[in-house]
Amino acid sequence: MAENKAPVISAVGLSKVFRDFWNRPKAKAVSDIDFEIREGEVVGLLGPNGSGKSTTVKMLLGLLYPTAGQLAVFGRSPRTVAIKKRIGYLPEESYLYKYLTAMETLDFFGSLFNLSKTERRNRSEQLLDMVGLSHVRSRRVGEFSKGMARRIGLAQAMINDPSLLILDEPTSGLDPLGCKEVKDLIMLLKKRGKTVLITSHLLSDVEDICDRVIILYGGKIRAEGPLNDLLTVTEASRITTPAMQPEITEKVLKILRENLSGEEFNIDHPRRTLEEFFLDVIDKAKAESVTTSGVVNSGRIAEYLQEDDKAAKVLAGLSASGDPSPEVAAAKKAVDEKQEQQKIKQENLRIQELTSSLTVEKGPEKQAAAEEFSNLKSEKLSEANEKLKDLLN
Ligand SMILES: Nc1ncnc2c1ncn2[C@@H]1O[C@H](COP(=O)(O)OP(=O)(O)OP(=O)(O)O)[C@@H](O)[C@H]1O
Ligand SMILES: [Mg+2]
Repeated sequence: MAENKAPVISAVGLSKVFRDFWNRPKAKAVSDIDFEIREGEVVGLLGPNGSGKSTTVKMLLGLLYPTAGQLAVFGRSPRTVAIKKRIGYLPEESYLYKYLTAMETLDFFGSLFNLSKTERRNRSEQLLDMVGLSHVRSRRVGEFSKGMARRIGLAQAMINDPSLLILDEPTSGLDPLGCKEVKDLIMLLKKRGKTVLITSHLLSDVEDICDRVIILYGGKIRAEGPLNDLLTVTEASRITTPAMQPEITEKVLKILRENLSGEEFNIDHPRRTLEEFFLDVIDKAKAESVTTSGVVNSGRIAEYLQEDDKAAKVLAGLSASGDPSPEVAAAKKAVDEKQEQQKIKQENLRIQELTSSLTVEKGPEKQAAAEEFSNLKSEKLSEANEKLKDLLN
């Protein structure tokens, strides 16, 4: 249970007051709030516009100083550099460098976490595939639609395989299929023991994935608790059965009338949500191979984000006596196939690298062109670095 787990975030008396030029209080964004988030929890931070969600998130990231109160992330100040490495953050507005391509964007953020070149490339490829942007890897992110920018932002938040993910409006601008994928991904991260804090106005999304919610209004916590406790209406009961014949319905109604002494009740048919219906329509279109020029959802989760899961399945199979179950055999086969594909991919990349270095050796002209290209790239990266420094200060 979450109560026994270590606290990942703990805030006591946390407050933030924005002041004007003359140091007069301008806005009390967060007002004396206490909360704790434990390892493995998925928590929704909700509230209307201007209620203090983003301000709280920025304090958790060490981007804003609290005016009062204590705040610890993994037991330390959120401004500690080592702590930042364990956090993945999706900002409310995507801060992307419009001249970098999708691949270069992920590579850049990977380099901020000192990942090796191979690791950066592997993770970037897996993430692009996962968020449905593989086919636009070489397009500049400045040309991306809102939903595409959200997707690359999500991929960027996961490049360091963080223990704590803070997602400010992760599903805003995404189509229902994208929302579903983000929700599935969050559930998978939860299964891997990650802690996730989400802010969102899309309450049905929050309801689907969060264990617990904190509702802010005017910078104060107005309600907090597990969704089950908050949303279950214990004063009413509901029984769902297969569609009933009229004579059975009549019998049930008779029993209810006799026993409920005049209290009102109703019988109706359960409804699917619009999301379920929409996803069904799209699945059918896909099954009929209808083409689209939009985002191509792979439905695959980046391998490095789910390794533990796979390993657990295979280990379970190895420790079981006798023949492995079909599920385990399939998992083993999938792992073997993936490893084989990975090997071939790495081999291809190595060949590409070798070929490009051979081409460069051929003549001074090509050497100069290659140098120009790499200067251009490092210029872009240092420009991006400067902007990022500005944002963090
Ligand atoms: N940099 C700032 N300077 C002055 N006031 C600010 C600043 N940032 C936020 N505020 C104020 O703090 C309050 C809380 O803002 P915040 O951005 O945290 O709200 P939010 O809950 O994230 O809202 P939304 O749902 O619209 O994103 C608002 O009154 C806002 O005007
Ligand atoms: Mg906000």
